[in-house]
Amino acid sequence: MEGHRMKTAVAALLLGVGLAGGLALPAAAQSSVRIGGPAAEQQVDRDGPMVPTQIPGQDRGDSWHAIRLGEQGSVSIPNKQAGVLIQSEGEAWRAVRNGPLSQYGSWVLGGILALLALFFLVRGRIRIDGEKTGRTIQRFNAFERGVHWMTAGSFVVLAISGLNLLYGRHTLLPLIGPEPFAALSHYGKLAHNFLGFAFILGVALIFVMWAHHNIPSRHDLTWFLKAGGLFSKGVHPPAHKFNGGQKVIFWSTVVGGAALGFTGVQLIFPFSFATLEEMQLYQLAHAAIAVIMIAIILAHIYIGSIGMEGAFDAMGDGQVELQWAREHHSLWVEDVTGEKVRHAHRHGTPAE
Ligand code: HEM
Repeated sequence: MEGHRMKTAVAALLLGVGLAGGLALPAAAQSSVRIGGPAAEQQVDRDGPMVPTQIPGQDRGDSWHAIRLGEQGSVSIPNKQAGVLIQSEGEAWRAVRNGPLSQYGSWVLGGILALLALFFLVRGRIRIDGEKTGRTIQRFNAFERGVHWMTAGSFVVLAISGLNLLYGRHTLLPLIGPEPFAALSHYGKLAHNFLGFAFILGVALIFVMWAHHNIPSRHDLTWFLKAGGLFSKGVHPPAHKFNGGQKVIFWSTVVGGAALGFTGVQLIFPFSFATLEEMQLYQLAHAAIAVIMIAIILAHIYIGSIGMEGAFDAMGDGQVELQWAREHHSLWVEDVTGEKVRHAHRHGTPAE
């Protein structure tokens, strides 16, 4: 490992030497890099005859020291970034990205999948406890559902294409081979760039539509103390439109989505808003937040689909079984219909 790093460092140095040497020859160079300002103009030969790798007027040691420290020279081509020959922070960025970030990320994602599988095995599908009424109540209108599915659809594609950027080379490439992998990654990256904007719009609309239903309340505390009744049949802590767990999902979507959007935009438009070093930090933050958010959303997808009977309808046709609503959102049913719902947690019996 140490030997490999050494080799990489020597190779980078040699590349820098070669580049600097080539670029410093004005006749041959389209772009010349000059480190050290006006002093460099003077043709002072301080340590022996000039060699192609040396910047005129500078001590060889000084030049390489400056290059190694990432000092930006001046170039005559439009891309001023080319004046930095070696950016040492890039090594640290790569080490974190390919090391702890990928490692912990895979543990988080593997962990949540294992937990959900275990929960499904132990608890099974959460059923509607009481007798179904055959009557429904509208939970979300078409606009709300449209916004939800635009956000969800874009997020799923962003998550898959993003995970491919982080892990694809080690997982998918050996499975499907280089050409399919290259094509998939190419279209994945395109999708990632464009769908980011749909996701940002979706998160903004979700915030506007539902923020007022997601202000924390004392009922959330009860909900958390009873773990939402998720682990015990017949326990249904009262909740308005959204319960404590859903508020966590909501604020994770809003805060995590905003952070992903912000860091993502910095990366889609390189150097427009951030320096190279800042972009490296934004990239690490983007990937770490994405992994956490994917884990949270996996739990959300589970409970919104196979995990709970009757939940999907809320985002399907928008109509939920009245008994489902009484059990999971009793205070909301009272708000909307005016009926008085018996609360299981107060009476120790299932909601009717
Ligand atoms: C792709 C599969 C998904 C499914 C099956 C799904 C399902 C659902 C369902 C059924 C609801 C309504 C719950 C209720 O009536 O109480 C809901 C709400 C919600 N969804 Fe999704 N969803 C998915 C993806 C996503 C994604 C990717 C996001 C955000 C990135 C998201 C964000 C939300 C939010 C913020 C709510 C409101 C709070 C909540 O109910 O937790 N959903 N979803």
